[in-house]
Amino acid sequence: MADHQARSGGDERPPGIPAIRWEEPPEGPVLVLLDQTRLPAEEVEMVCTDAPALVEAIRSLAVRGAPLLGIAGAYGVALAAARGFDVPEAARSIEESRPTAVNLSVGVGRARAAHEAELARSGDPAAAAAAALAAARTLHRQDAEASARMAAHGLALLDELLPGGGYRLLTHCNTGALVSGGEGTAFAVALAAHREGRLRRLWVDETRPLLQGARLTAYEAGRNGMAYTLLADNAAGSLFAAGEVDAVLIGADRIAADGSVANKVGSYPLAVLARHHGVPFIVVAPLTTIDPDTPDGASIEVEQRPGFEVTEVMAPQAQVTGPGGGIPVAPLGTQAYNPAFDVTPPELVTAIVTEEGAVTPVSGEALAAVCKRAREA
Ligand code: MRU
Repeated sequence: MADHQARSGGDERPPGIPAIRWEEPPEGPVLVLLDQTRLPAEEVEMVCTDAPALVEAIRSLAVRGAPLLGIAGAYGVALAAARGFDVPEAARSIEESRPTAVNLSVGVGRARAAHEAELARSGDPAAAAAAALAAARTLHRQDAEASARMAAHGLALLDELLPGGGYRLLTHCNTGALVSGGEGTAFAVALAAHREGRLRRLWVDETRPLLQGARLTAYEAGRNGMAYTLLADNAAGSLFAAGEVDAVLIGADRIAADGSVANKVGSYPLAVLARHHGVPFIVVAPLTTIDPDTPDGASIEVEQRPGFEVTEVMAPQAQVTGPGGGIPVAPLGTQAYNPAFDVTPPELVTAIVTEEGAVTPVSGEALAAVCKRAREA
């Protein structure tokens, strides 16, 4: 049985909204997550004491977004080790909780490898648990550093592509501090532009069906004092047609070896629109999101989620009436197509911005070269 308790964060929360943290109260170590399903209505934390609780949090999107899934996965392995659970079993269940974001298996793999290596070396489970925790902390810190570097590289690229500033940037889903050890990926670039006085407007796609844009990106943009406007996803075409978008900035859940980009469903239509209107389509993602073992876009496993997320509006604070726990908006029994992600081919991507700089034009060779350079650094 999953073991997590809700805990109110309220006014004690320091600025910066920590999406995840490790704590060691006398009762034993815990992983504390900001429950993203409750935002923006309330800031409530969720305390996980075992891997099943984390798996449930991942599946329900209480914790979500590629880089944060990697960090959570690594801490989840450390939690299982610290509490004396079966580590390989915990690692397997966490890794399988969502299929598309490669960061999840990267995070789980790093903590598990550290645990295994220390156990083989010392035979001491406590030392092995400490090694897993150290690996999780390192990944957390590295993600924060990568976020800051992506923001700087992304801003430099915007300056190059669109000299003069005053950017009107369109973003999709949620890619800020809620998904990162730092300030995020695509959102961190927009935030850097805002801090430099170069952001005129952040256009925020609502991101149906689970509304990560409306609920989370609008929340983060507001907290940061950015000028933002929310739009229904299907209003993006008229926004481009009106000449109101200077660049699209999105994150990624997995980038295949050929440069194909899996990201929140609705990203691919934006890439098509951007190409039609001659607008740069920029993907911002850390190197941990590039998967050399997935050769191309067709090989990326796209998560299919329950139809009720489409046939009902998921509003946890509202009166519950539908079988999925939301407010029905379609006739009972309506079938729904609900892929969580789509794949944008590399030829529609203007640039992929990583912590090692911008890859443009995007090609498998250029991506392999940037990964090699980072490994050798
Ligand atoms: O289903 P989600 O909310 O986990 O999807 C998240 C996204 O698609 C983000 O755009 C992606 O993880 C990049 S975040 C840096």
